Amino acid sequence: MATLNRVLNIFLFIFIANLHSISCTAIFSSDPYAEQKLDRVSKLPGQNFNVSFAHYAGYVTVSKESGRALFYWFFEADEDPSSKPIVLWLNGGPGCSSIAYGLAEEIGPFHVEKDGKTLYLNPNSWNKAANILFLDSPVGVGFSYSNVTNDQLNNGDKRTAADNLEFLLQWFKLFPQYKGRDFYITGESYAGHYVPQLSQAIVRHNHKNGEVINLKGFMVGNALIDDFHDHLGLFQFMWSVGMISDETFKQLNIFCDFQSFVHTSEQCDKVLDIADEEIGDIDMYSIFTPPCTANFNRFSWLLKRKKKVGLVKGAYDPCTEQHSTIYFNLPEVQNALHVRSQNSPFKWETCSDEVNENWKDAPASVLDIYRELIPAGLRIWIFSGDTDAVIPVTSTRYSIDALKLPTTSPWRAWYDDGQVGGWTQEYQGLTFVTVRGAGHEVPLHKPKQALTLIKSYISGKSMPKLKQVSDM
Ligand SMILES: *[C@@H]1O[C@H](CO)[C@@H](O)[C@H](O)[C@H]1NC(C)=O
Ligand SMILES: *[C@@H]1O[C@H](CO)[C@@H](O)[C@H](O)[C@H]1NC(C)=O
Repeated sequence: MATLNRVLNIFLFIFIANLHSISCTAIFSSDPYAEQKLDRVSKLPGQNFNVSFAHYAGYVTVSKESGRALFYWFFEADEDPSSKPIVLWLNGGPGCSSIAYGLAEEIGPFHVEKDGKTLYLNPNSWNKAANILFLDSPVGVGFSYSNVTNDQLNNGDKRTAADNLEFLLQWFKLFPQYKGRDFYITGESYAGHYVPQLSQAIVRHNHKNGEVINLKGFMVGNALIDDFHDHLGLFQFMWSVGMISDETFKQLNIFCDFQSFVHTSEQCDKVLDIADEEIGDIDMYSIFTPPCTANFNRFSWLLKRKKKVGLVKGAYDPCTEQHSTIYFNLPEVQNALHVRSQNSPFKWETCSDEVNENWKDAPASVLDIYRELIPAGLRIWIFSGDTDAVIPVTSTRYSIDALKLPTTSPWRAWYDDGQVGGWTQEYQGLTFVTVRGAGHEVPLHKPKQALTLIKSYISGKSMPKLKQVSDM
C-alpha cells in the first residue's frame, strides 16, 4: 500500500485549499479555533442538500518521531451540539475504516448512492442524539498513514490503543470547546478489542494526570470479546441455525475452541474450510439476506477468501462498499476532506488486507478489562444483531456469562413502535441488548432500532417497554 510520499507539501496544500475561505491572518494568529477551522468541511461533491450541522475532517499527529497521523471526521449534532455528548465510533477488522462502515453505511449522516457520486442524508444518523466522531485507526487504515516505510505491517492492539489515546488528547486540544464534555466510545466487531482497550487507557491516564477526558462509558456490538467463548457460541449458532453438519460441529469444537480468532492453527483452518463448503455462498454477516451479486468479478475475493468463518471484517453488503470505494477515491472528495495526498489521489480501501494479515498482538480475551472497568463506574452496554454468523448472539451471551455478574433486571423484550426490537437483560455494571433481525452491522440492518439504542444508552435509561394503550 502506498503509505509513502503521499504527504509531501501538506502545509502548502492545506494553505491553498483554504485560501478562499480563511484569511492569512487567521492562520497565523493565536485564535484557538484557527487550526480547527482549517478542518471545517464545506459542501461535499455530490451533496445536493444543505445540512444544519457543522462537520470537520483532517488529521491528528499521534507520533511526531515516526510521522504517524490518524484521520478523523467529526459531525456536530444536528441540534444543540453544545449540550450534547461526544460519541466516538470505531470499526474493527483489524484493518477496516470507520469512514467506510460506521459513517457511510451505518450511523453517519452521509451515505453514498449507488452511482458512487451522490450523497444522501441518513434520517437515523446518530448525530440526532450526539456529536459523533469517526476515527480511522490504526495507521494504514482508510486515510490514516505513517511516514515510516511499511509501518502498516507493525500494527497490533497495544499500539492501536496508545495511538488512539494520543489522538484523543490532541483532538481535544484542536477542539477546546469540547473539552470536559461527556464522552462515550462505541464500535463493533474487532472494535470489541479497541473500545475497552482505549477506555482502559483513558481511565488509567485520567488516574495518573487528573481527569483529562470525561469518559462516561462504552458500548460495543457483535464484538470480539473472548476467543474461547466467542468460538463456542459461533459453532453452536452455525449448528443450531442449520448451516453446518453434526460432524463438522463436533470437529470445530475439538480443533478450534481453544484457538485465537486472529491466528488459527492449520488443523482448525482445515475444519473451517469444510464448514465454509457446507455453508455455501451466503452472507455470513447477515445470514437471512441476499449477498450482493453485482460486479462479482471485482469483489469476489470476499467469497473466495479462505476462512470466511470467523473472519471479523466489518462487511455487510459488498455492493454498499463498492459505492463508497468509488466515492472516497474521487480526487475532489479527498480534497474536500483535506486528505493528505500529493500528486496522485490517495488509494482508499474499505479494509486493508495488509493491516489485517500482519496484526501483531491480540489478547485472547478482553474480559479482564471489563472486570477492571465495571467497578470504575463506566456505563457499559453490549449489543448484538441476532442474525450475524461472524460474532453471533450466542458468542456474546457466553462471554457475558463468563463475567458472572448479578442480574439487576431480568431478560425481557424491548419495543420499538409496538414491535419487539429485541431482548435485553441488565446486570450489575453491564446492560445487554439484542437487536432482532439485525446482522453484524446493526445500524445498517436496523437503523431506526439502532437510533433508539443509542438514545437509551446516552440517557442511561433501560430499553423501551411496550407502551400501555393509554399512553399511546
Ligand atoms: C442551500 O443553501 C443555499 C444558500 O442558502 C441556497 O442557495 C440553496 O438553494 C440551498 N439548497 C437546497 C437544496 O436547499
Ligand atoms: C510526513 O512527512 C511529510 C513529508 O516530509 C510531512 O510533511 C508530514 O508532516 C509528515 N507527517 C507527519 C504526521 O509527521
